[in-house]
Amino acid sequence: MRQKIVAGNWKMNMSSESSSAFINELKSSNWPQDVNCIIAPPIIYLMELQKVNGKQIDLCGQNCHSNDSGAFTGEIGAAMLNDIGAKYCLVGHSERRSYFNESNEFLKNKVDGLLKNSIIPIYCCGETRIERENGTYFDVVEQQLNEGLFHLDNLQFTKVIIAYEPVWAIGTGLTASAKEAQEMHAYIRKTIEKVYSLEMAESISILYGGSCNPNNAKELFACKDVDGGLIGGASLEPKKFLEIAQAF
Ligand code: 13P
Repeated sequence: MRQKIVAGNWKMNMSSESSSAFINELKSSNWPQDVNCIIAPPIIYLMELQKVNGKQIDLCGQNCHSNDSGAFTGEIGAAMLNDIGAKYCLVGHSERRSYFNESNEFLKNKVDGLLKNSIIPIYCCGETRIERENGTYFDVVEQQLNEGLFHLDNLQFTKVIIAYEPVWAIGTGLTASAKEAQEMHAYIRKTIEKVYSLEMAESISILYGGSCNPNNAKELFACKDVDGGLIGGASLEPKKFLEIAQAF
């Protein structure tokens, strides 16, 4: 049985006050016990949240540098994420790929840096609207996985989580239909089976992200190969975020 996961990516939002209030509200809510709750706040709040946080919520970086330390002004190394108690880190979010030109090759190093520091990478992949329309979306996602993730050996690969986030669905209010999400998640699983094994493919958690909200989460989470969500906008409000977790 794969773990059910609902992860919130706050992106560059929230404040010191609102983030602590969010965590306190979530801690006293009836969050389903069988759903792993992950929050990826801006790094500056992650440290603070560690203090108010109990065991219920796992904290996640939104980005990191592949080196542990060095002359990389403005960057945060995976070792530092580990040092401040983060358990997970997003890698290759489409906003990083497009606004900061992060290539698969570059992301591969981040994945390695994270695993070396015992942080679980949540590796994001997904096609643009043009790639969806021109029918190359399976190839695009497969290439992102091939170049950024499939260099890992068997043991390392058991540690990763994959998030399928079609770029055209992020922050647009357009969601992949349950059929489209399931189709891609099944494809990702088949690809893992080809490279690793059936057992591996069955054991890896694959999250869906892109305008997931309390109204569509139930249908998406009911899909056989969707193990949960990576939530942007709807993760900024504790009530909506909780409702999404309750949609399993
Ligand atoms: P939205 O839920 O706002 O579409 O964002 C999804 C996302 O990018 C999560 O990482």
